[in-house]
Amino acid sequence: MRTILAILAAAGALLAQKPEFHPNQLAPYVPSPYQIVGKMLELAKIKPGEKVYDLGSGDGRVVIVAAQKYDARAVGIELSSRLVKSSQEEIKRLGLTEKASIVHGDVFDADLSDADVVILYLMRDSNNTLKPKLEKTLKPGARVISHDYEISGWKPQMEERVDAYRRSHKIYVYRMPPQK
Ligand SMILES: C[S@@+](CC[C@H](N)C(=O)[O-])C[C@H]1O[C@@H](n2cnc3c(N)ncnc32)[C@H](O)[C@@H]1O
Repeated sequence: MRTILAILAAAGALLAQKPEFHPNQLAPYVPSPYQIVGKMLELAKIKPGEKVYDLGSGDGRVVIVAAQKYDARAVGIELSSRLVKSSQEEIKRLGLTEKASIVHGDVFDADLSDADVVILYLMRDSNNTLKPKLEKTLKPGARVISHDYEISGWKPQMEERVDAYRRSHKIYVYRMPPQK
């Protein structure tokens, strides 16, 4: 009987956590390994002061490394209030608030017209759902770097395979065409 009560109590506690659900949830939270973050930013060839967006920024690691290592103006957009809070705290702790920020919101509402670089680690279908927005709003020459998932119909400038965390990851590098 005690075991059953303990199981019921644990289930109740789990349900009480009310996991955040959003109809525009494009992917679950799975952080890119730091090795992949480093490679994506290296392949993006970021110049100091360029504007870098991470669409679905998780714990903020891409934004933090872009600001710290490349002196980018880096913005993360994230749905989860828990991840927004922890990444904002980390940015503050590291003294990066001048260069790095996290917006609590939906990537579909973001204005990406000033983006030089967009980083994605979502899912295949999510990339394709986002594709029309990227095509409509990104400026010519903007780079889009996607971890693991292609953007169907776009021709990557480069594809790179990187081994990390006991599996092979793929990084796709795209560049928006000169004319729309
Ligand atoms: C696979 S994780 C990638 C995290 C980070 N970009 C990285 O590479 O480490 C995807 C993130 O996107 C967020 N997300 C999913 N849909 C979103 C949306 N519509 N707007 C903003 N963030 C979203 C999730 O909450 C999650 O943190």
